[in-house]
Amino acid sequence: MRSAAITGTGVFTPSASISNDELVAAFNAHADRFNEEHAAEIAAGTVEAKTHSSADFILAASGIERRFVMDRDGVLDPARMFPHLPARADDEPSIMAEMGVNAARQALEQAGREASEVGAVLCAASNHERAYPAIAVEIQSLLGCGGFAFDMNVACSSATFGIQTAADMIRAGSVRSVLVINPEICSAHLEWRDRDCHFIFGDVATATLIELDEGLTRPHYKIRSTRLATQFSNNIRNNNGFLRRTRDQMEDRRDMQFMQNGRRVFKEVLPLVSAHIADHMAEEGIAAGDLRRLWLHQANKTMNDYIGRKVLGRDPEPGEQPNILQDYANTSSAGSIIAFAKHSADLAKGDLGLICSFGAGYSVGSVIVERG
Ligand code: COA
Repeated sequence: MRSAAITGTGVFTPSASISNDELVAAFNAHADRFNEEHAAEIAAGTVEAKTHSSADFILAASGIERRFVMDRDGVLDPARMFPHLPARADDEPSIMAEMGVNAARQALEQAGREASEVGAVLCAASNHERAYPAIAVEIQSLLGCGGFAFDMNVACSSATFGIQTAADMIRAGSVRSVLVINPEICSAHLEWRDRDCHFIFGDVATATLIELDEGLTRPHYKIRSTRLATQFSNNIRNNNGFLRRTRDQMEDRRDMQFMQNGRRVFKEVLPLVSAHIADHMAEEGIAAGDLRRLWLHQANKTMNDYIGRKVLGRDPEPGEQPNILQDYANTSSAGSIIAFAKHSADLAKGDLGLICSFGAGYSVGSVIVERG
């Protein structure tokens, strides 16, 4: 039977970043303005006053220290609290395509491949810049790839679902080489004016090149097996969509941006993910002691520590379950791939590792890899 391998990864990191202190200063200035503007309603009890955020809370609750963003100024402007990302003309590359192309070029270079050797491009992300033409087709054209391309959306699990889709196509024999690209502009679907979640997300793009595992000469990661699962939940939701953009619904509605019931997500997703990984490993006959590394979704440090302990049956050793969320925050589908891209080169031939993502849907995806 044919098998697939990851032969290259790339990470596009925006040049601008925002520390927790800068973010909290902007949020608090926004809260003060809001309270001043709504002083009468707040006094009458019809509007709730906004409370200050705290950098200490953010670090303790999430492990996040800073995040990269495509535009700092708009996010940090207390009168705006939203990135400036002007619409591009139709004959210019779209923003997501540009980010994705940058990450894809790094993945191709690592694998020693030309774009023309790629048979399919999947743009798998939690939001797409437009409905059509697919961003993936634009990336295919900008890179000069052959074959076909399409967009996918499985929120934070888009990358692992994309990797399984690519591996399945390679195993079935329809393509030999697939680029899975995850451009995540989370800053544009985060509600920066909401203290409960304003610190959560950052922007990035990742790319993973997956090829037929035949005659590979460079270091690579054999995809031993993949496992996906979904279970409907409203606890992470974004109601923005083309049906909601009718003229009478253009008002500033909170449910048009990222919403979550963080506590419930915490409680419900942890057992779901732990059981998913345990079942996947059991199915493959892999014991905790066989795993060299875990590259987990990057939403919350406490969550990752818990999953690491559950999977390994002990506290992970330093470096066994690398986190990147202190620098990048939650970058939706890209998080586990950033961790994989930055913390996998030291694995020896035959070492096993597991990539796992989880998020809205709920969705969970795991990929067991073996260094080749
Ligand atoms: N600054 C200061 N205090 C804050 C705050 C902020 N920015 N945000 C919330 N608080 C306060 C709350 O008001 C609450 O106060 P109270 O106890 O007086 O009511 C307290 O801190 C705890 O808030 P809570 O929202 O329950 O915090 P938490 O410990 O659950 O942490 C998250 C919040 C979002 C970090 C955490 O729930 C989480 O990571 N959940 C999982 C999220 C996830 O994986 N989502 C997937 C997204 S793709």
